[in-house]
Amino acid sequence: MSAPESVDTLRGALLYQGKAKQVYATPDPTRILIHYTDGATAFNGLKKANIADKGAINCKISAFFMEKVAAAGVPTAFERNIGDRDQLCKKVDIIPVEVVVRNVVAGGLAKKLGLAEGIKLPSPLVEHFYKSDSLNDPQINEDTAVLLGWAQPHELLAMRDYALKVNAVLIAFWAELGVDLVDFKLEFGRVALDGSVGAPTAVVLADEITPDGSRLWERGTGRKLDKDVFRRDLGDLSETYRELYKRIFGESL
Ligand code: CDP
Repeated sequence: MSAPESVDTLRGALLYQGKAKQVYATPDPTRILIHYTDGATAFNGLKKANIADKGAINCKISAFFMEKVAAAGVPTAFERNIGDRDQLCKKVDIIPVEVVVRNVVAGGLAKKLGLAEGIKLPSPLVEHFYKSDSLNDPQINEDTAVLLGWAQPHELLAMRDYALKVNAVLIAFWAELGVDLVDFKLEFGRVALDGSVGAPTAVVLADEITPDGSRLWERGTGRKLDKDVFRRDLGDLSETYRELYKRIFGESL
């Protein structure tokens, strides 16, 4: 009889130590375990803190949204939560191109173009950034990604299509809860279609969908309900995330 599925039986070697997550091998080479920590960083690691229960809150929120977007036709690497802070996911080859979708001007876009935050865009803006901590994730365009071999044209098309689908799902969900989705970042990866080396690959949504990588503004008041609370010292991020959790799940953590 095989051992019951638990974090202890699944967790193998540490493969990657991220800012807010750790990635572990599992006994199945096609699967990884993602562990959500309470760590928070901003400004590429210059500002750091521990936010009580953030890992458990984000693990549950990300699983909830991954299931929602999968039901809307976006393939994802997410499989299921194991306990409170761990997720079993397909192992992917991460595409080093981050996709940001914006509905409202804020953050880096406002700064770069000297615009006020809060200007509503007439339709969603899709932007691309090269995933590189040492370079501070510089903005690129799709041609750069293709010509430097980071992604193929059909992969970028799929990423754009999936990102806009995720946007539509999230906008509608948050609107019901009185929250405007301002922007968010997604990461994608490749999975081998039949598991063998050299097999054709498909693009799937990887990483997370959480308030760490989104901007969420309360409708009417504009109050920030995302990691900007931490980046900009606007209040207690743990309390903010607990409030989001309660709005989504209807109960406290
Ligand atoms: O947040 P920041 O001003 O650094 O950059 P942005 O381009 O305005 O970020 C757009 C959205 O992507 C925000 O919701 C960020 O939280 C998210 N983002 C992220 O999750 N990770 C990054 N490395 C950059 C942005």
